[in-house]
Amino acid sequence: MRTLIVVNGGDAPGINALIARFISMANRNGDEVCGGNAGFAGVLRDEIRPLSLADVGPVAGHGGSILTSTREPALAKDEARDRLTAILKRHSIDNILLFGGNGTLTYIPPRLRQWGVPVIGIPTTIDNDVAGTDRTLGFDSACNYAYQAVEGVLATARALPGRIFMVETLGGDTGYIALDVAMGAGAHAVLVPEYDYSDEWLAHRLRDAIESDGHALVVLSEGVKKIPQMPEMIPRMTGVRLRYTRLGHAQRGGTVSHADRRLAMDMARLAHHALRRGITSGTVIVRNGQMMVYEDDIQNFELSPPNRAEYDFVNGF
Ligand code: F6P
Repeated sequence: MRTLIVVNGGDAPGINALIARFISMANRNGDEVCGGNAGFAGVLRDEIRPLSLADVGPVAGHGGSILTSTREPALAKDEARDRLTAILKRHSIDNILLFGGNGTLTYIPPRLRQWGVPVIGIPTTIDNDVAGTDRTLGFDSACNYAYQAVEGVLATARALPGRIFMVETLGGDTGYIALDVAMGAGAHAVLVPEYDYSDEWLAHRLRDAIESDGHALVVLSEGVKKIPQMPEMIPRMTGVRLRYTRLGHAQRGGTVSHADRRLAMDMARLAHHALRRGITSGTVIVRNGQMMVYEDDIQNFELSPPNRAEYDFVNGF
């Protein structure tokens, strides 16, 4: 068996670990693995190379991806079908292992199925926002990265009290990272794009936190609409100084956590097994602690919003 690995959309910590584990399993079974450059855009330009464990083993614990990615919708083009199938044939590729987020996994596997190209998708995004799976590869590492920042912020907040600290996470237009980190860090408030709040409530909550704990910690997701106004509005409404930390893309390229390494291992095992069994289309998902290959379209699932009870708990509602 010869598998082509393609990474599409935002990279996430854990991709290299999964590629390494997949290659180990392939090698043990006499299978071959190659990698595409620049997602399907690169594959359509014939940018395909053989992959060995020596290529990825040394960086298995590093964020990013040894195979570059793209957000370009290369398979949407009319000529893509014939070009892709010809290239796969020329390289004797039997199937594809595809890394990607919700956009990639709802669009590409159904398209490849129509074209008769076997594919297994791996939900990969720090945002944890792929419908149908409780967990995406990279989410845990991104949360771990945020804790390092939060711990640093809290150390100075305790040493020099009387101030409000806001830590902004990535997450696109979702708040899964922010809510999980706020829960784990014991933040005084969490703001996510999915739920509204009033400025008056926030000001009151932060003043209360300063009074009781000496400082206030807010974790918020980058998709919260009022972020540009915060630096001026919060001090004006509370009479308290605000210090703002934005994690930005550094959060996406952080070190791979233990949980993501295990997830990578388990996903690689299942994906390799599924491809060997000849499954023609599927996505590796985790539901209620159970990992499986879902052989239908993940479009069948709806994305649930961040846990409302946890959101209410952090915010003291
Ligand atoms: O991949 C998800 C994500 O990292 C989001 O958290 C973030 O909003 C977005 O990608 C950033 O995208 P880009 O790398 O294209 O700026």
